[in-house]
Amino acid sequence: MDKFRIRGGNPIKGRVSISGAKNSALPCMAAAILTSETITLHNMPYVRDIITMRRLLEDIGATVLTPELRTHKISAAQVELMAAPYELVKTMRASVLALGPLLARFGKARVSLPGGCAIGARPIDLHLASLAKLGAEVFLEAGDVVARVPRDGLIGAEIHFDKVSVTGTENLMMAATLARGKTTIHNAAREPEIADLAELLNKMGARVRGAGTATIQVEGVAALGSAEHSIIPDRIETGTFIAAGAITNGELEIKDCRPEHLSAVISKLREVGVEIEEVNQSTLYVRCSERGLKASDLGTEPYPGFPTDMQAQFMTLMTQAQGRSIITETIFENRFMHASELQRMGARIQISRDQAIVDGPDKLIGARVQASDLRASASLVLAGLIAKGETQIDRVYHIDRGYEKIEAKLKEVGADIDRVRESVTAPLAPVGLDAVVA
Ligand code: UD1
Repeated sequence: MDKFRIRGGNPIKGRVSISGAKNSALPCMAAAILTSETITLHNMPYVRDIITMRRLLEDIGATVLTPELRTHKISAAQVELMAAPYELVKTMRASVLALGPLLARFGKARVSLPGGCAIGARPIDLHLASLAKLGAEVFLEAGDVVARVPRDGLIGAEIHFDKVSVTGTENLMMAATLARGKTTIHNAAREPEIADLAELLNKMGARVRGAGTATIQVEGVAALGSAEHSIIPDRIETGTFIAAGAITNGELEIKDCRPEHLSAVISKLREVGVEIEEVNQSTLYVRCSERGLKASDLGTEPYPGFPTDMQAQFMTLMTQAQGRSIITETIFENRFMHASELQRMGARIQISRDQAIVDGPDKLIGARVQASDLRASASLVLAGLIAKGETQIDRVYHIDRGYEKIEAKLKEVGADIDRVRESVTAPLAPVGLDAVVA
């Protein structure tokens, strides 16, 4: 398993470019199952989750070509297997995104039930209940969810989500594109990734309105066709680099991002003392104010609130702020696993159920720490960038799931960070592109 070795203290200075959003690319890849024609996706990030989704598509019989760096051409003309196996679902919960499209196009699907994961139970009951409302028969068989469409096919319905679910909304939205009649999704997730998926679906011939708001309407159509689409920039990677610039007292120009997707993050970080200038619609300029960082409380919320995927990075930032901040995690239980690692580096953090109390500022000291999930790993990298001495982060495969070559991007702007390869793992980039990406 690879590790990162970071020697802290260097300010991050220079220019960094943001990759495509993993959380948008994954559902867009799954959407390719809805048609026998080719879907071309541009601005695809090179991260492990994308390779896992590619494997899932190839396993079911689809073909995925990468004619150019960052472009995927997916054809699900031949699909032989309507199933996502446990081996894939257990490594990537978003494999469940195959469920809605398989069911809608082929009338049946089998997806292994995701187990508990490091950031809580993460059930998929809302996905299943909403597909059942469209008329699917859904049952459990040997640890798998099996869904079947009755002879009449899926039929549009009014669906009210009790809780906001991102992938739940995406699964239902995709299934509804091929259902008969109209589906209305109430209390839908409003994340930019939902709107991006809807844009692709509409290019494919679907009739989706309201994506990006809490009410989405989908008018079913008989079939979908080919489309070409460019994935939106990753707002969480953007936020992570803003935090990196600020915490190291550096100066960063962040290119190829969409500041409008980060309003809550930008306003919170400005409040704690980060200077963020929106240079234009795709560029941010970041530096820490001369007065330094000051503590502030935070609660995570579904979009447009402050994202849970930026909570860990914010916590590291607060270890350097003057005063006490109380961070409340409202989306996932057990999403404070980074806190104990930050404590080992000298941070003063107390956890009480869904709240973390952070007292700052504290000098962090380099230590050997362990990544527990994707965003927790990012918070440890931030800590390593400012810690005195050397920090070694184990299990960086978590970060490889969702950040494209984070160590190369950070090195480029002055960080002293290296990847220590400890085993022979599958190449991060698709075979044949490794040399280009490296
Ligand atoms: C997505 C994102 C993930 C982000 C999360 C919250 C992708 C691939 N992943 O995950 O990065 O952290 O949104 O913004 O886009 N819930 C249920 N029943 C369900 C589904 C969800 O109770 O059927 C609960 C979850 O346990 C959680 C909350 O709803 O408490 C939100 O989860 P959800 O939005 O579904 O997260 P994901 O879509 O898995």
